[in-house]
Amino acid sequence: MPRADLLPLKYRYRLLGTPPVSARHVEWSAIASTDDERMQPSDDLLGLALTAAERARHLRLDDLAARCQTPLEASWINHWPGEHYRLLAALVEVAGVDLAIEVGTYTGMGALALAGAGARVQTYDLVPWDQFSHTLFHRDDFDDRISQRIGDLANQDYFDSQLDDLRAADLILIDGPKDGVFEPAFLSKLLPVLRAGQVLVLDDIRKLQMLQTWRDISLPKLDVTSLGHWSGTGLAVAPQK
Ligand SMILES: C[S@@+](CC[C@H](N)C(=O)[O-])C[C@H]1O[C@@H](n2cnc3c(N)ncnc32)[C@H](O)[C@@H]1O
Repeated sequence: MPRADLLPLKYRYRLLGTPPVSARHVEWSAIASTDDERMQPSDDLLGLALTAAERARHLRLDDLAARCQTPLEASWINHWPGEHYRLLAALVEVAGVDLAIEVGTYTGMGALALAGAGARVQTYDLVPWDQFSHTLFHRDDFDDRISQRIGDLANQDYFDSQLDDLRAADLILIDGPKDGVFEPAFLSKLLPVLRAGQVLVLDDIRKLQMLQTWRDISLPKLDVTSLGHWSGTGLAVAPQK
């Protein structure tokens, strides 16, 4: 048996065995008290979450669902709460998002949900969108509304080169590798330079690899998993300094 503390996180957690619940997709998570969290949600953040949830109740993303190639994938788009796409679109509307930045492009579901609600979207990945085996993008989506940049925002030089755009964004969706390495490295650079009022959305905060990263975020923040993605949705807003 290899020493668990020497294994990468994604292998270490497999040593826990099978979780005691049946569902289409199951992963281990952990629960933790919030009374001893340093950062609590502000009243404005609670208002944003509840207003966005109310808006999400009444919107549908049928054009995006129509781009999907399988019934299962199409079902995720309008499945809310449980998936986060309707909440993302609602946040664009209620927070008046002009520019949204997404970290982690993959098939484009997140970027297209944000853009469909009226945001300009700049999405980052290590892989060009047309090199994934499957994509919901059409080539003509990449006009003045959606652009993709290839680069690693955990790298200090690349981060510095993107700083103006990161600070210009009204909303930043962090949906990258969740490998226990990228997100803490990126956030350690991003949090000190955020502009007051910028909204952060973190996907998958209930995944074991993301628990401590979410806990360590020193911004007014709220776990909105029950109003977002079943694997964990975190919402935070940068305060006045
Ligand atoms: C969960 S997927 C993103 C899903 C996408 N946001 C959506 O809504 O369909 C994670 C993505 O992060 C990308 N990724 C991995 N490391 C990255 C990094 N350092 N910077 C940006 N993206 C990265 C992967 O290539 C993958 O496309």
